[in-house]
Amino acid sequence: MALKKLLHLVSLVGVVFSACFDNGDKEIGGSCYKFVPQKLTFADAQYWCHYKNPVTASYLAYVPNQFTSNFLASYARSAFETDDGNFWIGLSRKNSSSPWIWDNGQLLGFSNFGGQLGQNFAAESIVNAKWNAFGSTDQKFFVCSYDPQAPPTFGPPVTDVPLSTVPVSTEVPPTPTGIFL
Ligand SMILES: *[C@@H]1O[C@H](CO)[C@@H](O)[C@H](O)[C@H]1NC(C)=O
Repeated sequence: MALKKLLHLVSLVGVVFSACFDNGDKEIGGSCYKFVPQKLTFADAQYWCHYKNPVTASYLAYVPNQFTSNFLASYARSAFETDDGNFWIGLSRKNSSSPWIWDNGQLLGFSNFGGQLGQNFAAESIVNAKWNAFGSTDQKFFVCSYDPQAPPTFGPPVTDVPLSTVPVSTEVPPTPTGIFL
């Protein structure tokens, strides 16, 4: 009986510790969070989470509830070695009349906004876990997230190469042959 309990405990612990693809990632409510101590713009942080996270493609952090928001702010203090400032989460909008959308495509459900709402990119305060809006050129630490059971996949990155520098192809595409079903 005691052995059975012990085995059960070991299997539970095993599940908890094997949840994330990187030992440094923090598991909260079934999702894994990676704290990245590098100051980037919102767009660059988002790109990093999508394409440069070495363990898996991920989103800029999805924060679905108060518990997660509080946990992130609290852990950010040690991860970013500061008691102050804000870190990007994956929440943004196109402009002040557009809805806030999470990087994973979810609409804003749970909301934890503080007083600063004028801009379009949300960062969470390390001090009180509230979200405030910042601009596209602000650079901040950030957090990525992924579901280890179903990590995201992304198509090739969309590049911002000015059209004038894109070489114009003069090649005629080959005529398709064969039967297409
Ligand atoms: C905000 O963005 C929406 C959707 O992209 C667009 O239709 C609308 O014209 C924009 N509004 C302003 C005030 O820029």
